[in-house]
Amino acid sequence: MKAVVYTTYGPPDVLQLKEVEKPAPKDNEVLIKIHAVSANAADLHLLRADPFLTRLMSGLLKPKHTILGSDIAGRVEAVGRNVKEFQPGDEVFGDISGCGWGGFAEYVSVPEHVLVLKPAHITFEQAAAVPMAAVTALQGIRVKGLIQAGQKVLINGASGGVGTFAVQIAKSFGAEVTAVCSTGKMDMVRAIGADHVIDYTQEDFTKNGQRYDLIIAANGYHSILEYKRALSPKGIYIMTGGTMAQIFQAMLLGPWISMTGSKKMHNVMAKPNQKDLTFIKELLEAGTIVPVIDRKFPLSKVPEAMRYLEEGHALGKVVITVAGN
Ligand SMILES: NC(=O)c1ccc[n+]([C@@H]2O[C@H](COP(=O)([O-])OP(=O)(O)OC[C@H]3O[C@@H](n4cnc5c(N)ncnc54)[C@H](OP(=O)(O)O)[C@@H]3O)[C@@H](O)[C@H]2O)c1
Repeated sequence: MKAVVYTTYGPPDVLQLKEVEKPAPKDNEVLIKIHAVSANAADLHLLRADPFLTRLMSGLLKPKHTILGSDIAGRVEAVGRNVKEFQPGDEVFGDISGCGWGGFAEYVSVPEHVLVLKPAHITFEQAAAVPMAAVTALQGIRVKGLIQAGQKVLINGASGGVGTFAVQIAKSFGAEVTAVCSTGKMDMVRAIGADHVIDYTQEDFTKNGQRYDLIIAANGYHSILEYKRALSPKGIYIMTGGTMAQIFQAMLLGPWISMTGSKKMHNVMAKPNQKDLTFIKELLEAGTIVPVIDRKFPLSKVPEAMRYLEEGHALGKVVITVAGN
């Protein structure tokens, strides 16, 4: 089968389209013919081993998993003898980052517990856009953010992969959502349900006097103290992504601020799981959330897709179409 392989850390140029052995499913595994896979910032972190500490998990000198790609959608081709939930022909999607990655390929074999049946009405490309970004948004908003109907929620970085899901998921919980993005993306975030939109090139939401019950920092930089200022007295700040400075502030100062006052400041490291993805699947089936896809690339153009993602201004998700290439 064809796969995009990397054997050394580096820029997208180190990714090479190669012929590799097609996997065979173990007893508890499902062999999937991949139709589409989306690119995530996590792929970039592993590709470049950036931040350096990534190497503790991904391989000190060279990558342990040589095929990146976590968010897959495809058709079950074969199942191991202990697999109970799926059968050949099923259309599935899932985040395979917890079981070896390998989505930038024509086939992958993964344990059944990472998969969920794809909603029938969406395409493989749309399904591949969902798992990591949507589950991260859900875990930030529901598990750590403790969202409640009627709350004022602000999403910074609302026009990217995580942000477009965060806007829609927060709306599905009955929140009044303010989305922060750049000028050219305001119409799109309004179209996916944002009640208010702030253009960060024109206005700094941390200085306009508004207060929010929940802030999801999906992207873009503000210091943790600026975020704290924009929270209501019992507000919660959740950092899912942003700059390294922002990550360290959330990890180191966040617990201290949370312990010493009424405002809570947390970061979230999303954990893929079938239950949360099933919840997201139900929102997709109800039409409550719709994946936003920016560009699609063929498997042979994964390096271009990664370069584009790395520019940091995708409008929704970047998707690789695999089947047929
Ligand atoms: N914690 C976790 O488990 C987890 C999981 C997934 C992702 N992440 C992290 O979450 C972050 C976002 O991921 P993503 O997939 O959403 O990335 P992405 O799709 O690449 O984000 C791109 C978006 O960020 C927006 N953006 C860039 N600079 C901004 C700024 N200064 N203010 C507001 N928005 C800005 C861009 O909008 P404009 O073009 O309008 O600037 C663009 O729409 C990344 O750091 C990623 O590593 C964390």
